Amino acid sequence: MGVPPPRPARRGVAPLRDFPTVVWLCIAGVVAVLQPFIIESTWLLVHLALLGALSHAMFAWSTFFAQALLKTPESADPPPLQALRFLLLAVGTACVVVGVPVSAWWLVLAGALIVAAAVLVHAAAMLRRLRAALPGRFTVTVRYYLAASVCMPVGAAFGVLLARWPASELFGRLLLAHTVTMLLGWVGLTVVGTLVTFWPTLLRTRVHPQTARRTQQALPVLLAGIALIDVGALADVRPLAVAGLAVHLCGAVWWGSTLLRPVLAAPPRRAPGVFAASALVWGLVLLVSLLVHVLRADSWGHLAAGYLPLTLVGVLGFALQLLTGALSQLVPTVLGGGPAVRAAVDREFDRFTLLRWALLNVGLVTALLPVPGSVRRVALGVVLVTVLSLVPILLRGIVVGVRAKHA
Ligand code: HEM
Repeated sequence: MGVPPPRPARRGVAPLRDFPTVVWLCIAGVVAVLQPFIIESTWLLVHLALLGALSHAMFAWSTFFAQALLKTPESADPPPLQALRFLLLAVGTACVVVGVPVSAWWLVLAGALIVAAAVLVHAAAMLRRLRAALPGRFTVTVRYYLAASVCMPVGAAFGVLLARWPASELFGRLLLAHTVTMLLGWVGLTVVGTLVTFWPTLLRTRVHPQTARRTQQALPVLLAGIALIDVGALADVRPLAVAGLAVHLCGAVWWGSTLLRPVLAAPPRRAPGVFAASALVWGLVLLVSLLVHVLRADSWGHLAAGYLPLTLVGVLGFALQLLTGALSQLVPTVLGGGPAVRAAVDREFDRFTLLRWALLNVGLVTALLPVPGSVRRVALGVVLVTVLSLVPILLRGIVVGVRAKHA
């Protein structure tokens, strides 16, 4: 059974699709450099990366995959509507990333409402695509995008409440609900849905015959897990949250079992597969360590106090590493131009792959070990620089591709 090649709807550079992620990462780079002078700099870096860069990439590329897999007519999701939601997401994100550090709650509320509106427009477009498409195995991907889009406004509501009552005794409970709904719901479900066809593409191999069926079966389990965690956290019933994490983990393992055969058949050698595979390992580490952390914490206060290592695993190990792998495959694909251009662009994205991989992953492991503070700061600095090296690589890749096409 072969993978349906995801044929891009539009080839070449599309500024509104391609550049916002780069811009958010550049702003994150500036914040990283000026960190000692910026209030709430860690929160800011986390949200510039996840709400800014990653959420835009998920918007843009899930639209691309939905189009490639369902081949729906343009009227199901016209380009001006896509542009509108990219703009709404950018404006909403800007309000949130300014509002939280300066404690302007009304700005955070306005930003979260705008972000939620953008996601609902996105969900409506996915629904129209599903209705317009012929039934097929890969509609499951778009169902995951819909489920992820439901999680995002819920997670945003928790974020607004966190910003409103940062010092309340509710904080630990809201923090768990917010991060789980965003990281496992909004990001996780989008990733699972996309990897149905994208995983074999990344590895240049064939799709596992059970993939579509197991992915379909895993969706209610993954969603039930998130719902249990949220209810457990909000209702102050920690065992329920632990049960929800266990349920979510079972769903993830059931789906993940279909990733093994392709990876054994074609172990990753190039940047896209290497970074994506490591990101999935960190995703599993995140799920297991979150479960252990919630199980072992004495109180919600302790749970919140020990959250930073989990955030580092989620943001650096899982989310940004996955973004690196995905963009290293997708940008060359959409640039188009034939095999010679493709090879030239791939070479750019493959630059120093092993070194980047080692710096990122060894740096992150070091930062998570009980090392002196100065060592941890250096390790995290190395990881950040490595992650942000994606920006020049992306820009070089685009320039090389455009030049090669003109030549
Ligand atoms: C929609 C708008 C959002 C708002 C208003 C928001 C707000 C917040 C607030 C107020 C906190 C707690 C800050 C503190 O520690 O004092 C927080 C933490 C966090 N949020 Fe968000 N957030 C948003 C979106 C997201 C998204 C999309 C993600 C991930 C995909 C995310 C992931 C996280 C994580 C991982 C933390 C924990 C950070 C830490 O350990 O300090 N947030 N957020």
